[in-house]
Amino acid sequence: MAVEILDTLAREAFEEVIALHDRHSGVRAFLAIHDTRRGPAFGGIRRWSYLDEEQALRDCLRLARSMTYKCAMAGLDAGGAKLVLLDRPELDLALAYRYIGDVVERLGGRVYAGPDVGSGVEELGWVAERTRFATDPGPDGPGELAQSTSAGVVAGIAAALRHVDGSERWSERTAVVQGLGQVGSGVAGSLRALGARVLAGDTDSERGEALARGLGVEWVDPCAELELACDVLAPCALGGIVHDLSLQRLRCRVLAGSANNVLAASGHGDRLHERGILYVPDFVVNSGALIRGALFHMEGVRVPVAEIGDRIAREVALLLEMAADEGLPPARVAVREAERRIRATAAGAQN
Ligand code: NAI
Repeated sequence: MAVEILDTLAREAFEEVIALHDRHSGVRAFLAIHDTRRGPAFGGIRRWSYLDEEQALRDCLRLARSMTYKCAMAGLDAGGAKLVLLDRPELDLALAYRYIGDVVERLGGRVYAGPDVGSGVEELGWVAERTRFATDPGPDGPGELAQSTSAGVVAGIAAALRHVDGSERWSERTAVVQGLGQVGSGVAGSLRALGARVLAGDTDSERGEALARGLGVEWVDPCAELELACDVLAPCALGGIVHDLSLQRLRCRVLAGSANNVLAASGHGDRLHERGILYVPDFVVNSGALIRGALFHMEGVRVPVAEIGDRIAREVALLLEMAADEGLPPARVAVREAERRIRATAAGAQN
């Protein structure tokens, strides 16, 4: 494993990967800093029950690199990082997150830590007790993070529909939302309010069904979500849902959601393109919270949620146009464009 991992770090130009262990709190974690050439690295803290360390490290690396691309495509002077914390019964949560806060503080602003799966308001509160370089979940922080992400996803979906059909025509659309969490519930509610027919599912069926009722959207079995015929499929749960088996079963025209790393492997973007499914890359469409958080930290402004949506819609429209002109899958063009922007900054810095 070690050699292969080191090869990956070299090939994908990671700056640094730190393995963390703390016997007082039970922390076992990896912190990957992918690229800070455009500015400080932003990344969430993911707490998850990984099968083993290798799975955790791989997830950490993929997510950190994707954050670098996300920053570049959002036009931010920032780079990507990620911290994954292995969730285990031995973990003392308050101690663990305070320890992570100390680690982040020692990095002196090279890394800004934010929320992610498993790290919400309470956990971020513990981190923020120990460092200036974390998203403060309270009234002194950027606020409205999930709302910013939902707004970006909805605006990105609208841009994709305009690209394929010339207009949104919400009342004629069917959208399926996978996951009714913080972001998915916002996406489902907004699409419904715009007039679309919305179907949604969540593995937490008790909470999900009640939420669906409240939002006026139709509840579906989460096992069936991916196979429903629809205009838009919005994955807002976990990543990796487009893989060799699921790919043939998808029946959507547009695929755009908040989940990070929707494609199990980069080649799946090509396969979606061959199948005629317009995939809007996750790191282009789900940057709402990042834009809100990064500009709050770097410039002290709280960018209005609607403005974030407009900004993401413009980026999505440009990308889809560029990809269509070249006849290439948007996922491929987005990675190329992000890398071009990062190289351009690095070259500029050397001059
Ligand atoms: P969340 O934890 O609030 O919601 C996720 C929901 O998905 C939960 O309700 C969970 O029960 C459900 N779920 C899990 N597996 C499922 C499955 N197989 N089928 C259906 N439902 C399933 O998380 P949040 O904050 O809403 O984020 C959703 C996704 O978007 C995550 O992948 C996250 O990394 C990503 N994301 C979130 C951002 C944010 O601002 N919160 C920013 C960028 C990305």
